[in-house]
Amino acid sequence: MLISISDVLNADQLADVTSAFDRLVWKDGAETAGPVARQVKRNQQADLTRTVGPKVEQILSAALKQNPVLKAAAQPERFSSLLISKTGAGGGYGLHVDNAFMRVGDGSMRTDLSFTLFLSPPEDYEGGELVIEHAGATQTLKLGAGDLVLYPSSSLHQVTDVTSGTRLVCVGWIESRIQRADDRETLFDLINLKAELSRRLDAQSPEMLTLSKVIANLKRRF
Ligand code: NI
Repeated sequence: MLISISDVLNADQLADVTSAFDRLVWKDGAETAGPVARQVKRNQQADLTRTVGPKVEQILSAALKQNPVLKAAAQPERFSSLLISKTGAGGGYGLHVDNAFMRVGDGSMRTDLSFTLFLSPPEDYEGGELVIEHAGATQTLKLGAGDLVLYPSSSLHQVTDVTSGTRLVCVGWIESRIQRADDRETLFDLINLKAELSRRLDAQSPEMLTLSKVIANLKRRF
């Protein structure tokens, strides 16, 4: 499942994050890629441990963790640390697949889902489309500032060359409580169905109680 979610950052959060960019410390993005991906990664990444980095990460992390659609679609067990990437003219990120495991703190996590949260508006740069090969089709995405795309980490993907302007995004990974994509989709459908029915039915109605039971029992099984 590949989904786009609008307005993960509201206007205030977006302004707080983008106004801090000039004070972030930037370094070569190839440092954080695996040995194969490193050869095709041409961008810069913010060092989120320095200057205003922790503050920026905190704003982004809070917005991501409380987004109800992201929660329902991803069923996150944990999030990776976040990366902020800046790609200028001549930069891009060739076709690659993300690492299956990533370090978090002292341990490691499995990457089930990848996301890109767009931080600069599409009119700020030419090129720089995120191209994802998913389920036999190719999807090309260039979303508005504050919007996010969530896609399976198992997909091959690339960022086409930026030909002018600057592309700024936040990327990260999620380990889901539910490893299989088809199970996550079933659960996501049921959660959406429950939200839809809750407008017409009382939460204590037999139908809603049964649906809540089905959702809880499915989560237990997965
Ligand atoms: Ni990637």
